[in-house]
Amino acid sequence: MDLPDPHPGPGQVRIAVHAAGLNTSDWKKRQGLMDQELPQTMGHEAAGIVDELGASVTSVAVGDRVFGFSPASGAQTELTVLSCYTPIPPSLGFAEAAALPAATETAARALDQLGVESGDTVLINGASGSVGSAAVQLAMVRGARVIGTGSPATKDFLRSLGTEPIAYGANHGITSPTNDRPPGQINRHAELPL
Ligand SMILES: NC(=O)c1ccc[n+]([C@@H]2O[C@H](COP(=O)([O-])OP(=O)(O)OC[C@H]3O[C@@H](n4cnc5c(N)ncnc54)[C@H](OP(=O)(O)O)[C@@H]3O)[C@@H](O)[C@H]2O)c1
Repeated sequence: MDLPDPHPGPGQVRIAVHAAGLNTSDWKKRQGLMDQELPQTMGHEAAGIVDELGASVTSVAVGDRVFGFSPASGAQTELTVLSCYTPIPPSLGFAEAAALPAATETAARALDQLGVESGDTVLINGASGSVGSAAVQLAMVRGARVIGTGSPATKDFLRSLGTEPIAYGANHGITSPTNDRPPGQINRHAELPL
């Protein structure tokens, strides 16, 4: 479907999309479970090259590599407008950057709501997943000790993130008597499994 080219409003940028994230909200939308009016565009997160600046944008310039949120759910298109964006670090490609916005924002919000700070011991249930693995890393940046649950196959991955891995139980959590027990006192607990 051909749509008119979008243009950025104040504080927004338009990018030529190089990669777009595919998220839970996308398959829910495709199954008609949300935003049911037609026509629809897809995708809330994208990475690309800035090609137009909205009024008062000074933090990035035309030609910069950026990633962020497409508020109008139009990330899976040739051109999209981002309302919240930041430069892509040199170590990241477009595809990796496009996969980050929703998961990392969700993780950061969860840690904010829990009030995670230096010295805390945090249990992250679902630490091997998209949101969980972001939450692990962001909690560690805040100076917390992190214990993370995942399936047995993810133990090495969890350890590589710096968390202390334990297996989750059959009953969605660490309360199962078959689970490993994390050592020490846990004072924050994020619940992230699907
Ligand atoms: N991804 C996003 O951008 C996003 C944004 C907003 C909200 N959310 C919500 O956040 C939650 C997590 O999403 P996600 O994208 O991170 O999902 P995901 O990547 O599929 O990760 C799911 C996590 O749950 C774990 N898990 C699976 N079965 C479990 C069980 N029986 N007991 C305990 N843990 C179990 C998985 O462990 P193993 O893989 O090791 O089995 C994995 O760590 C979902 O509710 C999602 O709707 C996600």
